[in-house]
Amino acid sequence: MSEHHGREVWQSRLGLIMAMAGNAIGLGNFLRFPVQAAANGGGAFMIPYFVAFLVVGIPMMWVEWSVGRFGGKHGHGTTPGILYRLWKHPAAKYIGVLGIAAPVAFALYYSYVQSWTLAYSFFSLTGEYFGISTQAEMGAFLSSFQGVSESAYFSSVATAYVFFLINLGIVFWVLTRGVVRGIETLAKFAMPMLLIFAIVLVARVLTLGTPDPSMPDQSVMAGFAWIWNPDLSRLSEGSVWLAAAGQIFFSLGIGIGSMQCYASYVRARQDVALTGLTTSMSNGFAEVVLGSSIAIPVAVAFFGVTATEAIATGGSFDLGFQSMPLIFQQLPLGQFIGTLWFGLLFFAGITSTVALTQPPMAFLQDEMGWPRKKAAMVVVSFLFIFGNFIVFNIEHGVIDELDFWIGTVGLVVFSFLEIIIFAWIFGMDKAWAEINEGSAIKIPRIFYYMIKYVTPVSLAILLVVWTYQAGFDLLLLRNANPEDMPFLLMTRGIIVGLILVGVLLVRRVSKNWG
Ligand code: ALA
Repeated sequence: MSEHHGREVWQSRLGLIMAMAGNAIGLGNFLRFPVQAAANGGGAFMIPYFVAFLVVGIPMMWVEWSVGRFGGKHGHGTTPGILYRLWKHPAAKYIGVLGIAAPVAFALYYSYVQSWTLAYSFFSLTGEYFGISTQAEMGAFLSSFQGVSESAYFSSVATAYVFFLINLGIVFWVLTRGVVRGIETLAKFAMPMLLIFAIVLVARVLTLGTPDPSMPDQSVMAGFAWIWNPDLSRLSEGSVWLAAAGQIFFSLGIGIGSMQCYASYVRARQDVALTGLTTSMSNGFAEVVLGSSIAIPVAVAFFGVTATEAIATGGSFDLGFQSMPLIFQQLPLGQFIGTLWFGLLFFAGITSTVALTQPPMAFLQDEMGWPRKKAAMVVVSFLFIFGNFIVFNIEHGVIDELDFWIGTVGLVVFSFLEIIIFAWIFGMDKAWAEINEGSAIKIPRIFYYMIKYVTPVSLAILLVVWTYQAGFDLLLLRNANPEDMPFLLMTRGIIVGLILVGVLLVRRVSKNWG
């Protein structure tokens, strides 16, 4: 194991690329993206999506890679230490707390949803849900699995709980093996598997044609036409732009703390420009080429455009966990195809869950000097204890609450603060030199101005519009169901508690930062 500051470094360039792709590519690409695209007008969504990718996605990816590598040079893998090296002001290290608290809060719900994909691969293999023929019944299957209602399928949350534990066990195992033997090895296996599964699924979708010849409007081609023909009239809707930008953040995994953490294990003068771009591109490929070629065309082929749109607006998981299983049953080798779909989601998800848990690992190891096993034990125990809160209160909307604050608003807030510290306080000339150090490509100069002006201004606009449109209602829980209120407040309590613990720990360890 080669080390810098006693820290691990990625063993190979390929391993690094796979690990970073694993970090970015996740449930967001295959579950969230199709739902967002379908709920926001199909093709109308793609224009703001590409604009956000160019204006915010790629620049932020470069920023986070450079910030992370810069941190690694100073022995820091998490943002409190890194931001403090960029800006020697106490505010910097406390802003950096977000880069540890947020991924932990993110992992709490993300890892649970991801454990369902493992369960559903198993259910597909054994044909557990085969025989269920309506969307409503498939919904009942899912909600009884989640322990929200009883049905003939599951009488309690026990099955989901077992998969929740198995999944945490896998995460623990990967974390105890470390960056190279754990994360890099997992990614080198999971990413090629994901690609193979996706190619088989896309090939299957492409050969579906028009499943019911009496319904010529319901075909795979109609699905592709819907997603690739932009409806320019919807570009004037602010909500479509917000959704597209939100998707870019979630899917690329920026503004959370994980990218910087992974980048801190890059060698001091190793390129970040090309590899950062590769991460953005492979994530985009997984999402736009693979992600858009499975769930949407297949749903349109079987249910039509209107019904697909309605399913997508129904909820984030309806398309993946309720509609797809109905379709698999109508295909030859359906059990196998179903296993591939949920297996694909599992490989995509587990590598992202691990990325979300690495910032607290790095903090405990780098800043508190803990051995890896002890750190992994504490991080996974935390996910277990607070995960129980999610598992047993899911019907009160705790996942949506976390997803809104952490997986939507939090990403933009943190990205904004980070880019201001990097491009304005540390200074754009130094920031540009950092990004270009050891670079294997020449980044066009226009990105200097994008990172300095366009990206921060776009982030600020996003924040203002969000706050104006939905922020106050959500902040004050104006539309919340009264029974859910205590649970939503407890969810916020967990987020605030995590930040407070982070602040106290940072206050303690930062005494040695000089
Ligand atoms: N970037 C991760 C995903 O897309 C969180 O799922």
